[in-house]
Amino acid sequence: MPSSPHRRRLLLLPLLVAAAALRGPLPAGAATCKAWLVQSIPTDMPHLRRVPGVLSTGYVLQWLSGNATKSLDILAQYWQFLAQPNNPKSGVSWCGKPQPGGGMHPPKPRRIVRHSGFAPDFDKESADLAAGRPNVQNVTFLFEKWWGSGVLHAKVWISDKKDVYIGSANNDWKSLTQVKELGIYFSDCPQITKAVEVYFQNLWSLSALNSTTYTKVAWDKQWQVSRKVPCWSHFLQPKERCRSPIPPSVDISYTDGYPALANPEMIDVPLETPGYQKSTQEHYLSYLSFAPPEVTFGKFQADEQGWVDTIKSVKVGGIVRMNTMDWLGQSQYGTQTVYWPSLSSAISEVVFSKNATVRLLVAYWTHSSQTQKTT
Ligand SMILES: *[C@@H]1O[C@H](CO)[C@@H](O)[C@H](O)[C@H]1NC(C)=O
Ligand SMILES: *[C@@H]1O[C@H](CO)[C@@H](O)[C@H](O)[C@H]1NC(C)=O
Ligand SMILES: *[C@@H]1O[C@H](CO)[C@@H](O)[C@H](O)[C@H]1NC(C)=O
Ligand SMILES: *[C@@H]1O[C@H](CO)[C@@H](O)[C@H](O)[C@H]1NC(C)=O
Repeated sequence: MPSSPHRRRLLLLPLLVAAAALRGPLPAGAATCKAWLVQSIPTDMPHLRRVPGVLSTGYVLQWLSGNATKSLDILAQYWQFLAQPNNPKSGVSWCGKPQPGGGMHPPKPRRIVRHSGFAPDFDKESADLAAGRPNVQNVTFLFEKWWGSGVLHAKVWISDKKDVYIGSANNDWKSLTQVKELGIYFSDCPQITKAVEVYFQNLWSLSALNSTTYTKVAWDKQWQVSRKVPCWSHFLQPKERCRSPIPPSVDISYTDGYPALANPEMIDVPLETPGYQKSTQEHYLSYLSFAPPEVTFGKFQADEQGWVDTIKSVKVGGIVRMNTMDWLGQSQYGTQTVYWPSLSSAISEVVFSKNATVRLLVAYWTHSSQTQKTT
């Protein structure tokens, strides 16, 4: 999970599932889509107990791999499962004491690994895995070439287009055993998985294109900066835009930023939550959100809106709980610092208008900025 500051950009948000609190009755003969929360928690800190009913990331990744018969599609910020005791950047050294293997059995992808990450150091292991194996493909997708900055921060495993893990755990030994991570595992959920697959496929398609041909510089009125964007971006005037090489795309007139979708594609599936005794099958209307918008715009909501909607779904006098590595209200690691008040504003709105209680758990870690430590 922790990576060097130059590799993380706050502006490109991780994949997020926002569940709106719209419940309905459960239809008879409902499907068997199951959802579990998934966690990583340091294995050598007995006072940090596992939460009952929540699965372990390491097992879930092994199941996704073990259950795959046709395809295994993986989005990884980087890929590093083998112990490297002499590499200071490796998770093993980060923990202070080299523990080759560490008792963790790395998942063995059997079919296709599509690795996107950043060059040059964290794609070696996946490239080695792909070398000489016709059933394994890997690509490196550099956000910097398309958006001027940022990284692919999503961590996703898609098995046979019906099971999927979406979460914060990086694809390395450290993220499975030494730090705290949270994710969700959907099993037998083709409807949800298909949507995530669209995002995966779009990134995969873009990785094969020449970004120089397909990017332009746009004036971002919301952030007051000029920045590089894909040429089909809605930050460009319609006449400046190119035809998007990736489906789906819809025609939306120019606005000063990305408009929130009034009708994002909703997922209306009954979910079984076997990890929790008190809820068996519940019916939720939810949507998936993604970033950056150029990769999914027209069909799926942007992450930023997903977060704002989640905060604002709090009831009068209710509690919003947020858990984050960094809390800044501005961009980080970019050449230019950008003011980014969306989440702080949404929080102030529910605090003032709804008398909501907001509980914010912010990590204090190697790269916490000075601003964050003192505010
Ligand atoms: C397939 O997934 C299920 C949980 O969804 C798990 O219990 C089972 O062990 C997995 N099978 C393999 C071979 O990994
Ligand atoms: C895996 O990805 C790396 C980095 O993009 C690339 O150099 C290598 O050729 C890829 N391997 C295969 C077998 O495609
Ligand atoms: C990408 O396109 C640019 C301009 O169209 C060209 O100069 C460059 O050589 C191309 N790069 C690759 C790798 O084809
Ligand atoms: C706001 O909520 C707190 C509990 O969080 C409660 O004690 C207080 O009475 C509430 N105020 C109003 C005006 O509803």
